[in-house]
Amino acid sequence: MNSVLRVNGGRPLVGEIAVRGAKNFVSKAMVASVLGSSPSLLRNVPQVRDVEVVSGLLSIHGVAVDYDRDAGTLRMDPSAVDTARLADIDAHAGSSRIPILFCGPLLHRLGEAFIPDLGGCQIGDRPINYHLDILREFGAKVEKFTDTGIHITAPNGLHGMKYRLSYPSVGATEQLLLTAVRAEGKTELSNAAIEPEIMDLIAVLQKMGALISVDTDRVIRIEGVDELVGFTHTSLCDRIEVASWGAAALATGGDVTVRGASQPEMMTFLNTFRKVGGAFDISDDAIRFYHPGGALNSIVLETDVHPGFMTDWQQPLVVALTQANGLSIVHETVYENRLGFTDALRAMGAQIQVYRECLGGLPCRFGQRNFFHSAVISGPTALHARDITVPDLRGGFSHLIAALAADGVSNVRGISLINRGYENFVGKLHALGADVEMRTT
Ligand code: EPU
Repeated sequence: MNSVLRVNGGRPLVGEIAVRGAKNFVSKAMVASVLGSSPSLLRNVPQVRDVEVVSGLLSIHGVAVDYDRDAGTLRMDPSAVDTARLADIDAHAGSSRIPILFCGPLLHRLGEAFIPDLGGCQIGDRPINYHLDILREFGAKVEKFTDTGIHITAPNGLHGMKYRLSYPSVGATEQLLLTAVRAEGKTELSNAAIEPEIMDLIAVLQKMGALISVDTDRVIRIEGVDELVGFTHTSLCDRIEVASWGAAALATGGDVTVRGASQPEMMTFLNTFRKVGGAFDISDDAIRFYHPGGALNSIVLETDVHPGFMTDWQQPLVVALTQANGLSIVHETVYENRLGFTDALRAMGAQIQVYRECLGGLPCRFGQRNFFHSAVISGPTALHARDITVPDLRGGFSHLIAALAADGVSNVRGISLINRGYENFVGKLHALGADVEMRTT
Protein backbone atom coordinates (compact mmCIF):
# COMPACT_ATOMS: atom_id res chain seq x y z
CA MET A 1 0.00 0.00 0.00
CA ASN A 2 1.44 3.36 -1.04
CA SER A 3 0.58 6.62 0.63
CA VAL A 4 0.32 9.81 -1.35
CA LEU A 5 -0.05 13.22 0.17
CA ARG A 6 -2.17 15.56 -1.91
CA VAL A 7 -0.94 19.10 -1.26
CA ASN A 8 -2.94 22.11 -2.43
CA GLY A 9 -0.20 24.71 -2.03
CA GLY A 10 0.22 28.44 -2.30
CA ARG A 11 -0.99 29.43 1.16
CA PRO A 12 1.12 30.44 4.17
CA LEU A 13 1.59 28.05 7.09
CA VAL A 14 0.26 29.80 10.18
CA GLY A 15 -0.18 28.53 13.71
CA GLU A 16 1.49 26.60 16.48
CA ILE A 17 2.93 23.10 16.69
CA ALA A 18 5.08 21.20 19.19
CA VAL A 19 8.34 19.36 18.59
CA ARG A 20 9.61 16.63 20.91
CA GLY A 21 13.04 15.05 21.40
CA ALA A 22 15.79 14.61 18.82
CA LYS A 23 15.62 11.40 16.80
CA ASN A 24 19.41 11.50 16.44
CA PHE A 25 19.86 11.52 20.19
CA VAL A 26 16.97 9.37 21.39
CA SER A 27 18.03 6.42 19.23
CA LYS A 28 21.59 6.55 20.68
CA ALA A 29 20.38 6.88 24.29
CA MET A 30 18.26 3.78 23.66
CA VAL A 31 21.42 1.90 22.65
CA ALA A 32 23.22 3.21 25.77
CA SER A 33 20.53 1.61 27.96
CA VAL A 34 22.00 -1.80 27.04
CA LEU A 35 25.12 -0.86 29.05
CA GLY A 36 23.18 -0.43 32.31
CA SER A 37 22.74 -2.99 35.06
CA SER A 38 19.32 -1.50 35.89
CA PRO A 39 16.40 -0.03 33.87
CA SER A 40 16.55 3.36 32.13
CA LEU A 41 13.81 5.89 31.50
CA LEU A 42 13.87 8.25 28.54
CA ARG A 43 11.43 11.17 28.24
CA ASN A 44 10.39 13.49 25.39
CA VAL A 45 10.62 10.58 22.92
CA PRO A 46 9.13 11.42 19.50
CA GLN A 47 6.91 8.91 17.76
CA VAL A 48 9.03 8.35 14.65
CA ARG A 49 9.95 5.20 12.80
CA ASP A 50 13.61 5.18 13.87
CA VAL A 51 12.47 4.85 17.50
CA GLU A 52 10.31 1.85 16.52
CA VAL A 53 13.26 0.28 14.70
CA VAL A 54 15.61 0.66 17.68
CA SER A 55 12.86 -0.59 20.04
CA GLY A 56 12.66 -3.68 17.85
CA LEU A 57 16.43 -4.15 17.98
CA LEU A 58 16.41 -3.83 21.77
CA SER A 59 13.56 -6.32 22.09
CA ILE A 60 15.25 -9.01 19.98
CA HIS A 61 18.26 -8.67 22.31
CA GLY A 62 16.17 -9.37 25.39
CA VAL A 63 15.70 -5.75 26.55
CA ALA A 64 12.16 -5.26 27.89
CA VAL A 65 10.86 -2.09 26.24
CA ASP A 66 7.81 -0.28 27.55
CA TYR A 67 7.02 2.55 25.12
CA ASP A 68 4.19 4.97 25.90
CA ARG A 69 3.91 6.75 22.57
CA ASP A 70 1.49 9.46 23.69
CA ALA A 71 3.39 10.32 26.86
CA GLY A 72 6.67 10.08 24.96
CA THR A 73 8.31 7.85 27.57
CA LEU A 74 10.43 4.78 27.03
CA ARG A 75 11.36 2.42 29.83
CA MET A 76 14.11 -0.05 28.95
CA ASP A 77 15.10 -2.94 31.19
CA PRO A 78 18.32 -4.61 30.02
CA SER A 79 18.64 -7.15 32.84
CA ALA A 80 17.98 -10.10 30.48
CA VAL A 81 20.15 -9.03 27.51
CA ASP A 82 20.82 -11.99 25.25
CA THR A 83 22.09 -12.86 21.78
CA ALA A 84 19.40 -12.26 19.18
CA ARG A 85 18.31 -14.88 16.64
CA LEU A 86 19.97 -14.35 13.26
CA ALA A 87 16.63 -14.33 11.48
CA ASP A 88 15.45 -11.50 13.76
CA ILE A 89 18.66 -9.56 13.11
CA ASP A 90 18.36 -10.06 9.35
CA ALA A 91 14.81 -8.75 9.51
CA HIS A 92 16.30 -5.39 10.54
CA ALA A 93 18.71 -5.20 7.58
CA GLY A 94 18.48 -1.92 5.70
CA SER A 95 16.22 -0.33 8.32
CA SER A 96 18.52 2.29 9.83
CA ARG A 97 22.14 3.24 10.58
CA ILE A 98 21.74 2.81 14.34
CA PRO A 99 22.48 -0.97 14.55
CA ILE A 100 26.23 -0.36 14.09
CA LEU A 101 26.19 1.47 17.44
CA PHE A 102 25.09 -1.70 19.25
CA CYS A 103 28.61 -3.15 18.78
CA GLY A 104 30.31 -1.82 21.92
CA PRO A 105 27.38 -2.38 24.32
CA LEU A 106 26.74 -5.92 23.02
CA LEU A 107 30.44 -6.80 23.11
CA HIS A 108 30.56 -5.69 26.75
CA ARG A 109 27.40 -7.56 27.68
CA LEU A 110 27.70 -10.69 25.54
CA GLY A 111 31.22 -10.86 24.10
CA GLU A 112 29.86 -10.81 20.55
CA ALA A 113 27.61 -8.76 18.29
CA PHE A 114 25.78 -9.55 15.05
CA ILE A 115 24.98 -6.40 13.13
CA PRO A 116 22.58 -6.32 10.15
CA ASP A 117 23.44 -4.39 7.00
CA LEU A 118 22.70 -0.74 7.54
CA GLY A 119 20.04 1.48 6.04
CA GLY A 120 19.58 5.23 6.25
CA CYS A 121 19.23 7.90 3.60
CA GLN A 122 21.15 7.67 0.32
CA ILE A 123 22.89 11.02 0.64
CA GLY A 124 26.39 9.73 -0.03
CA ASP A 125 28.38 6.52 0.22
CA ARG A 126 28.08 6.51 4.05
CA PRO A 127 30.90 4.06 4.78
CA ILE A 128 31.52 2.57 8.25
CA ASN A 129 35.31 2.38 8.02
CA TYR A 130 35.83 4.66 11.06
CA HIS A 131 33.45 2.52 13.15
CA LEU A 132 35.19 -0.75 12.29
CA ASP A 133 38.65 0.78 12.69
CA ILE A 134 37.74 2.07 16.15
CA LEU A 135 36.33 -1.31 17.23
CA ARG A 136 39.50 -3.05 16.04
CA GLU A 137 41.65 -0.55 17.99
CA PHE A 138 39.69 -1.50 21.13
CA GLY A 139 40.66 -5.12 20.43
CA ALA A 140 37.53 -6.40 18.68
CA LYS A 141 37.66 -8.89 15.80
CA VAL A 142 35.42 -7.93 12.91
CA GLU A 143 34.26 -10.35 10.22
CA LYS A 144 31.58 -10.17 7.58
CA PHE A 145 29.45 -13.25 8.24
CA THR A 146 26.81 -13.17 5.54
CA ASP A 147 25.80 -10.93 2.66
CA THR A 148 23.56 -9.10 5.08
CA GLY A 149 25.61 -8.51 8.20
CA ILE A 150 28.74 -8.34 10.33
CA HIS A 151 29.87 -10.54 13.22
CA ILE A 152 32.11 -8.98 15.88
CA THR A 153 33.78 -10.61 18.85
CA ALA A 154 36.13 -9.48 21.61
CA PRO A 155 38.03 -12.64 22.60
CA ASN A 156 40.44 -10.72 24.85
CA GLY A 157 38.10 -7.99 26.07
CA LEU A 158 38.07 -4.33 25.03
CA HIS A 159 40.92 -2.03 26.02
CA GLY A 160 41.25 1.76 26.03
CA MET A 161 43.31 3.38 23.28
CA LYS A 162 44.15 6.67 21.56
CA TYR A 163 42.38 7.49 18.33
CA ARG A 164 42.31 10.44 15.96
CA LEU A 165 39.38 10.78 13.56
CA SER A 166 40.39 12.12 10.15
CA TYR A 167 36.93 13.77 10.05
CA PRO A 168 34.76 14.54 13.11
CA SER A 169 32.10 11.92 12.37
CA VAL A 170 29.04 11.93 14.63
CA GLY A 171 28.45 8.17 14.44
CA ALA A 172 32.12 7.26 14.92
CA THR A 173 32.36 9.52 17.98
CA GLU A 174 29.26 7.81 19.41
CA GLN A 175 30.73 4.39 18.59
CA LEU A 176 33.86 5.25 20.51
CA LEU A 177 31.94 6.65 23.50
CA LEU A 178 29.59 3.67 23.77
CA THR A 179 32.57 1.30 23.69
CA ALA A 180 35.11 3.23 25.79
CA VAL A 181 32.89 3.77 28.83
CA ARG A 182 33.21 0.11 29.83
CA ALA A 183 36.56 -0.70 28.18
CA GLU A 184 39.48 -1.43 30.45
CA GLY A 185 41.67 1.68 30.98
CA LYS A 186 41.74 5.10 29.37
CA THR A 187 40.63 6.17 25.89
CA GLU A 188 41.38 9.45 24.13
CA LEU A 189 39.60 10.66 21.00
CA SER A 190 40.99 13.60 19.00
CA ASN A 191 39.05 15.52 16.36
CA ALA A 192 35.79 14.28 17.90
CA ALA A 193 32.34 15.44 16.82
CA ILE A 194 30.76 17.73 19.45
CA GLU A 195 27.18 18.01 18.18
CA PRO A 196 24.57 18.84 20.88
CA GLU A 197 23.15 15.31 20.49
CA ILE A 198 26.59 13.92 21.39
CA MET A 199 26.79 16.19 24.45
CA ASP A 200 23.39 14.87 25.55
CA LEU A 201 24.62 11.30 25.05
CA ILE A 202 27.64 12.13 27.23
CA ALA A 203 25.24 13.51 29.85
CA VAL A 204 23.33 10.22 29.77
CA LEU A 205 26.53 8.19 30.09
CA GLN A 206 27.65 10.35 33.01
CA LYS A 207 24.32 9.69 34.74
CA MET A 208 25.03 5.98 34.22
CA GLY A 209 28.37 6.28 36.03
CA ALA A 210 30.81 6.93 33.17
CA LEU A 211 33.88 9.15 33.43
CA ILE A 212 34.09 11.42 30.38
CA SER A 213 35.71 14.82 29.87
CA VAL A 214 35.37 17.05 26.80
CA ASP A 215 38.05 19.62 26.01
CA THR A 216 37.54 22.73 23.92
CA ASP A 217 39.85 21.37 21.21
CA ARG A 218 37.62 18.42 20.20
CA VAL A 219 39.45 15.99 22.48
CA ILE A 220 37.31 13.60 24.52
CA ARG A 221 38.84 11.50 27.29
CA ILE A 222 37.13 8.50 28.85
CA GLU A 223 38.16 6.34 31.81
CA GLY A 224 36.55 2.94 31.62
CA VAL A 225 34.49 1.77 34.62
CA ASP A 226 33.39 -1.73 35.69
CA GLU A 227 29.69 -1.06 36.00
CA LEU A 228 27.11 1.35 34.64
CA VAL A 229 23.56 1.76 35.95
CA GLY A 230 20.32 2.88 34.30
CA PHE A 231 19.51 6.55 33.67
CA THR A 232 16.52 8.88 33.70
CA HIS A 233 16.80 11.58 31.07
CA THR A 234 14.74 14.05 29.05
CA SER A 235 15.91 14.37 25.44
CA LEU A 236 17.03 17.68 24.00
CA CYS A 237 14.73 19.04 21.30
CA ASP A 238 14.99 17.97 17.67
CA ARG A 239 16.85 20.93 16.20
CA ILE A 240 16.49 19.53 12.68
CA GLU A 241 12.72 19.38 12.93
CA VAL A 242 12.58 22.86 14.49
CA ALA A 243 14.63 24.32 11.62
CA SER A 244 12.54 22.45 9.05
CA TRP A 245 9.35 24.12 10.30
CA GLY A 246 11.17 27.47 10.43
CA ALA A 247 12.21 27.07 6.79
CA ALA A 248 8.65 26.04 5.89
CA ALA A 249 7.29 29.21 7.54
CA LEU A 250 9.72 31.35 5.53
CA ALA A 251 9.20 29.61 2.18
CA THR A 252 5.40 29.88 2.42
CA GLY A 253 5.40 33.46 3.74
CA GLY A 254 3.93 32.15 6.99
CA ASP A 255 4.19 32.42 10.77
CA VAL A 256 4.88 29.25 12.77
CA THR A 257 5.46 28.95 16.50
CA VAL A 258 7.37 25.80 17.42
CA ARG A 259 6.82 24.75 21.05
CA GLY A 260 9.60 22.69 22.60
CA ALA A 261 12.25 24.52 20.55
CA SER A 262 15.30 25.63 22.45
CA GLN A 263 17.58 28.49 21.42
CA PRO A 264 21.13 27.29 22.27
CA GLU A 265 21.05 24.38 19.80
CA MET A 266 19.54 26.66 17.14
CA MET A 267 21.94 29.62 17.26
CA THR A 268 23.71 29.01 13.96
CA PHE A 269 20.43 28.36 12.17
CA LEU A 270 18.86 31.48 13.68
CA ASN A 271 21.75 33.68 12.51
CA THR A 272 21.37 32.38 8.96
CA PHE A 273 17.57 32.66 9.10
CA ARG A 274 17.95 36.32 10.07
CA LYS A 275 20.48 36.99 7.28
CA VAL A 276 18.04 35.56 4.74
CA GLY A 277 15.45 38.03 6.01
CA GLY A 278 13.37 35.76 8.23
CA ALA A 279 12.26 36.96 11.66
CA PHE A 280 11.94 35.07 14.93
CA ASP A 281 10.86 35.61 18.54
CA ILE A 282 12.25 33.44 21.29
CA SER A 283 10.49 32.56 24.52
CA ASP A 284 11.33 30.05 27.24
CA ASP A 285 9.84 27.04 25.51
CA ALA A 286 9.14 28.14 21.94
CA ILE A 287 10.53 29.88 18.88
CA ARG A 288 8.21 31.76 16.55
CA PHE A 289 9.51 31.86 12.96
CA TYR A 290 7.89 34.22 10.49
CA HIS A 291 8.23 36.02 7.20
CA PRO A 292 8.16 39.73 8.12
CA GLY A 293 7.12 40.81 4.61
CA GLY A 294 9.31 42.35 1.93
CA ALA A 295 12.06 40.66 -0.04
CA LEU A 296 14.27 37.84 1.20
CA ASN A 297 18.06 38.10 0.81
CA SER A 298 20.35 35.73 -1.04
CA ILE A 299 23.23 34.32 1.04
CA VAL A 300 26.44 32.30 0.86
CA LEU A 301 26.14 29.15 2.96
CA GLU A 302 28.52 26.31 3.78
CA THR A 303 27.44 23.29 5.79
CA ASP A 304 29.82 22.04 8.46
CA VAL A 305 30.10 20.01 11.64
CA HIS A 306 28.93 21.66 14.87
CA PRO A 307 29.05 24.54 15.65
CA GLY A 308 28.74 25.20 11.92
CA PHE A 309 25.54 25.20 9.86
CA MET A 310 24.40 21.60 9.99
CA THR A 311 23.92 19.60 6.81
CA ASP A 312 20.37 18.57 7.79
CA TRP A 313 19.28 22.21 7.81
CA GLN A 314 20.55 22.77 4.29
CA GLN A 315 17.80 21.07 2.31
CA PRO A 316 14.79 22.80 3.93
CA LEU A 317 16.49 26.19 3.78
CA VAL A 318 17.32 25.83 0.07
CA VAL A 319 13.57 25.87 -0.65
CA ALA A 320 13.29 29.26 1.10
CA LEU A 321 16.35 30.48 -0.87
CA THR A 322 14.44 29.94 -4.13
CA GLN A 323 12.30 32.87 -2.92
CA ALA A 324 15.26 35.17 -2.12
CA ASN A 325 16.41 38.05 -4.34
CA GLY A 326 19.61 37.31 -6.28
CA LEU A 327 22.14 34.48 -6.27
CA SER A 328 22.60 32.24 -3.24
CA ILE A 329 25.56 29.89 -3.05
CA VAL A 330 25.47 26.65 -1.06
CA HIS A 331 28.53 24.48 -0.42
CA GLU A 332 27.71 21.09 1.15
CA THR A 333 30.84 19.79 2.90
CA VAL A 334 29.44 16.96 5.09
CA TYR A 335 27.82 14.61 2.54
CA GLU A 336 28.96 14.30 -1.06
CA ASN A 337 25.49 13.64 -2.46
CA ARG A 338 23.02 15.86 -0.62
CA LEU A 339 21.89 18.08 -3.47
CA GLY A 340 20.01 15.48 -5.52
CA PHE A 341 16.73 16.78 -4.12
CA THR A 342 17.20 19.99 -6.17
CA ASP A 343 16.14 18.12 -9.35
CA ALA A 344 12.51 18.16 -8.17
CA LEU A 345 12.76 21.83 -7.17
CA ARG A 346 14.03 22.65 -10.68
CA ALA A 347 11.09 20.76 -12.16
CA MET A 348 8.82 22.98 -10.03
CA GLY A 349 10.33 26.14 -11.46
CA ALA A 350 13.33 26.85 -9.24
CA GLN A 351 16.55 28.01 -10.89
CA ILE A 352 19.28 25.92 -9.31
CA GLN A 353 22.58 24.92 -10.89
CA VAL A 354 24.77 22.31 -9.19
CA TYR A 355 28.57 22.13 -9.47
CA ARG A 356 31.36 19.65 -8.76
CA GLU A 357 33.64 22.48 -7.63
CA CYS A 358 33.85 23.73 -4.04
CA LEU A 359 32.04 27.08 -4.08
CA GLY A 360 33.35 28.11 -0.69
CA GLY A 361 36.42 28.34 1.47
CA LEU A 362 35.88 25.56 4.02
CA PRO A 363 38.16 22.54 3.80
CA CYS A 364 36.13 19.94 1.92
CA ARG A 365 36.78 16.27 1.14
CA PHE A 366 34.83 16.37 -2.12
CA GLY A 367 36.65 19.11 -4.06
CA GLN A 368 38.78 17.16 -6.49
CA ARG A 369 36.22 14.43 -6.92
CA ASN A 370 33.18 13.88 -9.05
CA PHE A 371 30.42 15.03 -6.70
CA PHE A 372 27.85 17.72 -7.36
CA HIS A 373 28.12 19.24 -3.91
CA SER A 374 27.80 23.01 -4.56
CA ALA A 375 24.71 24.85 -5.77
CA VAL A 376 23.85 28.29 -7.07
CA ILE A 377 20.23 29.28 -6.56
CA SER A 378 18.80 32.21 -8.47
CA GLY A 379 15.64 33.79 -7.12
CA PRO A 380 12.98 34.64 -6.61
CA THR A 381 11.13 32.14 -8.80
CA ALA A 382 7.51 31.11 -8.59
CA LEU A 383 7.11 27.42 -7.73
CA HIS A 384 4.50 25.34 -9.57
CA ALA A 385 2.81 22.18 -8.35
CA ARG A 386 4.26 18.84 -9.54
CA ASP A 387 3.91 15.19 -8.65
CA ILE A 388 7.01 14.30 -6.63
CA THR A 389 8.51 11.12 -5.24
CA VAL A 390 10.34 11.62 -1.96
CA PRO A 391 14.06 10.68 -2.25
CA ASP A 392 15.14 10.68 1.42
CA LEU A 393 14.12 12.05 4.80
CA ARG A 394 15.32 15.66 4.71
CA GLY A 395 15.13 16.00 0.93
CA GLY A 396 11.58 14.66 1.21
CA PHE A 397 10.54 17.25 3.77
CA SER A 398 12.05 19.91 1.50
CA HIS A 399 9.91 18.67 -1.37
CA LEU A 400 6.93 18.91 0.90
CA ILE A 401 7.81 22.53 1.74
CA ALA A 402 8.15 23.28 -1.99
CA ALA A 403 4.73 21.72 -2.65
CA LEU A 404 3.22 23.84 0.15
CA ALA A 405 4.79 27.00 -1.33
CA ALA A 406 3.81 26.16 -4.93
CA ASP A 407 0.59 27.19 -6.63
CA GLY A 408 -1.69 24.26 -7.40
CA VAL A 409 -2.01 20.63 -6.41
CA SER A 410 1.06 18.39 -5.98
CA ASN A 411 0.92 14.69 -5.20
CA VAL A 412 3.83 13.73 -2.97
CA ARG A 413 4.61 10.00 -3.06
CA GLY A 414 6.73 7.85 -0.77
CA ILE A 415 6.03 10.06 2.20
CA SER A 416 6.44 7.17 4.64
CA LEU A 417 10.16 8.07 4.46
CA ILE A 418 9.30 11.35 6.18
CA ASN A 419 7.84 9.40 9.14
CA ARG A 420 11.40 8.31 9.94
CA GLY A 421 12.16 11.72 11.40
CA TYR A 422 9.08 13.94 11.57
CA GLU A 423 6.47 13.03 14.18
CA ASN A 424 2.84 13.35 13.04
CA PHE A 425 3.81 15.78 10.29
CA VAL A 426 0.45 15.52 8.53
CA GLY A 427 -1.36 16.42 11.78
CA LYS A 428 1.01 19.36 12.24
CA LEU A 429 0.39 20.53 8.67
CA HIS A 430 -3.35 20.50 9.36
CA ALA A 431 -2.74 22.49 12.56
CA LEU A 432 -0.89 25.08 10.46
CA GLY A 433 -3.80 25.44 8.06
CA ALA A 434 -2.27 23.51 5.16
CA ASP A 435 -4.67 22.03 2.62
CA VAL A 436 -3.29 18.49 2.59
CA GLU A 437 -4.93 15.11 2.39
CA MET A 438 -3.46 11.64 2.80
CA ARG A 439 -4.54 9.08 0.20
CA THR A 440 -3.71 5.43 -0.08
CA THR A 441 -3.28 3.90 -3.53
N1 EPU B 1 32.03 8.89 7.37
C1 EPU B 1 33.04 8.09 6.87
N2 EPU B 1 33.31 6.92 7.51
C2 EPU B 1 32.62 6.51 8.61
C3 EPU B 1 31.60 7.35 9.12
C4 EPU B 1 31.33 8.53 8.48
O1 EPU B 1 33.68 8.43 5.86
O2 EPU B 1 32.91 5.42 9.15
C5 EPU B 1 31.72 10.15 6.67
C6 EPU B 1 30.30 10.13 6.08
O3 EPU B 1 30.26 9.47 4.84
C7 EPU B 1 29.96 11.61 5.98
C8 EPU B 1 30.71 12.20 7.18
O4 EPU B 1 31.67 11.23 7.59
O5 EPU B 1 30.49 12.14 4.79
C9 EPU B 1 29.83 12.55 8.34
O6 EPU B 1 29.08 11.42 8.75
P1 EPU B 1 28.68 11.20 10.27
O7 EPU B 1 29.29 9.93 10.74
O8 EPU B 1 28.97 12.45 11.03
O9 EPU B 1 27.12 11.02 10.14
P2 EPU B 1 26.20 9.89 10.77
O10 EPU B 1 26.58 9.63 12.17
O11 EPU B 1 26.08 8.75 9.84
C10 EPU B 1 24.47 11.55 11.80
C11 EPU B 1 23.00 11.77 11.64
C12 EPU B 1 22.72 12.42 10.29
C13 EPU B 1 23.47 13.74 10.23
C14 EPU B 1 24.96 13.52 10.48
C15 EPU B 1 25.74 14.81 10.53
C16 EPU B 1 22.07 9.95 12.89
C17 EPU B 1 21.33 8.67 12.89
N3 EPU B 1 22.31 10.49 11.71
O12 EPU B 1 24.82 10.67 10.76
O13 EPU B 1 21.34 12.68 10.24
O14 EPU B 1 23.28 14.32 8.97
O15 EPU B 1 25.15 12.80 11.71
O16 EPU B 1 25.28 15.63 11.56
O17 EPU B 1 22.42 10.48 13.94
C18 EPU B 1 19.21 12.71 9.29
O18 EPU B 1 18.75 12.82 10.44
O19 EPU B 1 18.49 12.83 8.26
C19 EPU B 1 20.62 12.42 9.10
C20 EPU B 1 21.13 12.02 7.93
